[in-house]
Amino acid sequence: MKKTYILRIVFLVFLLVLISQSCREKPAPFNEDALDVPYVPTPVRVVKEMFRLAEIKEGDVLLDLGCGDGRIPINAAVQYGIKAYGVDLNPERIRESVRNAHIAGVDHLVEFCEQDIFETDLTDATVITMYLLPSVNLRLRPKILTSVKPGTRIVSHDFNMNEWVPDKDAMVFIEDEAHTVYYWMVPANVTGEWAFKIDEPPLEVTIKFDQVFQFVQGSVMTEEEGWKVLEEQLKGDKFIFKLESPRLVWFFNGKVKEDAMRGEAEMGGSGKKAAWEAVRNPDTKEPLDILSQ
Ligand SMILES: C[S@@+](CC[C@H](N)C(=O)[O-])C[C@H]1O[C@@H](n2cnc3c(N)ncnc32)[C@H](O)[C@@H]1O
Repeated sequence: MKKTYILRIVFLVFLLVLISQSCREKPAPFNEDALDVPYVPTPVRVVKEMFRLAEIKEGDVLLDLGCGDGRIPINAAVQYGIKAYGVDLNPERIRESVRNAHIAGVDHLVEFCEQDIFETDLTDATVITMYLLPSVNLRLRPKILTSVKPGTRIVSHDFNMNEWVPDKDAMVFIEDEAHTVYYWMVPANVTGEWAFKIDEPPLEVTIKFDQVFQFVQGSVMTEEEGWKVLEEQLKGDKFIFKLESPRLVWFFNGKVKEDAMRGEAEMGGSGKKAAWEAVRNPDTKEPLDILSQ
């Protein structure tokens, strides 16, 4: 009995020594070959320019794809008091980000996660920042245009999105080195055929919209002589355009939500306003990104 008891204690001590040793062991080194982009931090002045271009405001939620030492989410939290997230595949970067957030006193506002940018959920962010590579931006482009909420602002340090031309850009010079910052607002998808209806004065018209990224061109499908769609402007989910017939002009102003749009139209010159609604034939919707086709 006594012998078994002693053996048990020896076994327990042995187990405790093993556990404490494994806890003290350093994490296995991260294989940097797994990264799509090497670690290069964005200078803080460029970070501030990214925020200026994105017009960050109270209530925004920022997500930095490939967050490095966490400087973009941390600076956003410090400067605007907003919630900010960062993901990075390298666990060492995540540990560094967590430490830096603690030092900056914004642990309660920022969160960092060891995650692949291609597996990251982008739907909660209102501002997405990135300093990646041209090829990586292009791989992300279809995901951004299909899964991100219309109106979400995207800001990229140094690399653009090829055919998806930026809505704005800016340059920062640091020691003779030029850093470019690009900005896009994710457009709603308005492609396809839409049945528009105004009750009073009555108007029913089908309009087909073709769209390449944020650029839209409409044409009237209903057999009406001389009807035209002009001056289309799409900013996120806000859509305005002019519908011109030989006798009158309507200025449409509204919001898009998936297969529906609604808003107010003003009859040119008269100041008369009327509510309008439109529904899309879902079979006519097309992808926004040529890379998804
Ligand atoms: C150029 S650094 C930018 C760091 C930070 N965003 C900044 O601007 O200072 C790119 C970061 O992306 C990370 N990264 C590379 N490939 C990744 C992937 N597939 N998923 C998540 N992070 C990745 C790297 O570890 C690195 O920290």
